[in-house]
Amino acid sequence: MADLIITIDGPAASGKSTVARLLAKRLGASFLDTGAMYRAVTLAAMQAGVDMSDEEKLLGVLDGKKFKFAIKESKMAVYIDGVDATGQIRGQQVTASARHIASAAKVRAKLVEMQRQFAAGQEKIVTEGRDQGTVAFPNADVKFFLTASPIERARRRQSELLAKGAGESLEKIQRDIEERDKSDQGREIGPLKPASDAIIVDTTDLSIEEVVEKLLDYTKEKCLKKSRK
Ligand code: C5P
Repeated sequence: MADLIITIDGPAASGKSTVARLLAKRLGASFLDTGAMYRAVTLAAMQAGVDMSDEEKLLGVLDGKKFKFAIKESKMAVYIDGVDATGQIRGQQVTASARHIASAAKVRAKLVEMQRQFAAGQEKIVTEGRDQGTVAFPNADVKFFLTASPIERARRRQSELLAKGAGESLEKIQRDIEERDKSDQGREIGPLKPASDAIIVDTTDLSIEEVVEKLLDYTKEKCLKKSRK
């Protein structure tokens, strides 16, 4: 097991991935973007033309393909059967369909197992998603839950899309984000919610750097307390 596990959970476009990556860099830790895992299985299921409501078929996709997750140029790269799918998993159709994979209990159980295996091979890890502090790593050393208002999250997502040359109205982006929140909060297994011992950080009025500094301060404080015990 890793010596230091930090979990960051939160809703769509709350800045988790960027913050996790930067926090990991500051701590000399690895990071894991678990959303990329759900996205990779979604893409593979779409490519295989599998019925997304058939849990056994989805499990078959996860078992039948070789998924590789690796850190490349400080981002999480995804390979499906040896083919680089890092860009493709961010497509709008994948984003919209990921909820099927996210609510398939057996697929979730297997992905959580893969997340624990990944963490076991690291000395320190920052892992982000929806259920990292609640289900995957209930004994994590430090747990964060990032939030931001839906309109701010929509603005952030719009800037990301514009940077990629894709335009979308703010209203539509906010609607999609709120729909994903609802689906993530409403599922039975691994729903989006803060762990009872998570530190909740509202990032609405904070820059990425400010969030990272805040999380670093909390981490140092918590780890110091632990070492004094
Ligand atoms: O974080 P990201 O937007 O990349 O996640 C894609 C989808 O994967 C989310 O909408 C969510 O439904 C699912 N997910 C999940 N549990 C996680 C990470 C992501 O259910 N730990």
